Amino acid sequence: MADRAAIGGNWKPGDRAPDLHSMLRVDHAGEYGATRIYAGQLAVLRGSSPAAHLVTHMAAQEERHLARFNQLLAERRVRPTLLQPLWHVGGFALGAVTALISEKAAMACTDAVETEIDLHYAQQLDELGDTDPELAADIRQFQADELEHRDTAREQGALDAPGYPLLSFTIRAICKAAIAVSKRV
Ligand SMILES: [Fe+2]
Ligand SMILES: [Fe+2]
Repeated sequence: MADRAAIGGNWKPGDRAPDLHSMLRVDHAGEYGATRIYAGQLAVLRGSSPAAHLVTHMAAQEERHLARFNQLLAERRVRPTLLQPLWHVGGFALGAVTALISEKAAMACTDAVETEIDLHYAQQLDELGDTDPELAADIRQFQADELEHRDTAREQGALDAPGYPLLSFTIRAICKAAIAVSKRV
């Protein structure tokens, strides 16, 4: 990972600026996907279970993240990813399928997704440096929320889910691919 100080501290006009449109597009896509994953999980998890209660809390935070990126896209005139219909269906399916396997598999899904999102946001903060303090502050806040989600999922037994290594590897690969394509289209 690049040294944040090297990018932020030494950035000067004329240096290559971060591609803010691409950043906002992929972040919006990710938060949108997150709301869909949790919607899929909640469609399966029994309403009164402790897992459903925790997922409801995480889903509410994802709605806040998404609302903020909706606002930023509008303010800065950035179009959302063309793949939003895919994340609509794919996110919901990922959440529903993992919850159907087991509550721990649902938590393993959250663990995997939030691990990738944490890395993604850390990389964006590196790229942003001190070029966009408003956006960086939002990302820092959301990154803290995502890490809390990951920790919650681990406390709920994510790492004990049957087939955790393959499940985690697969979901992280899906996230990496989704991030890569949402930056471009
Ligand atoms: Fe989020
Ligand atoms: Fe999250």
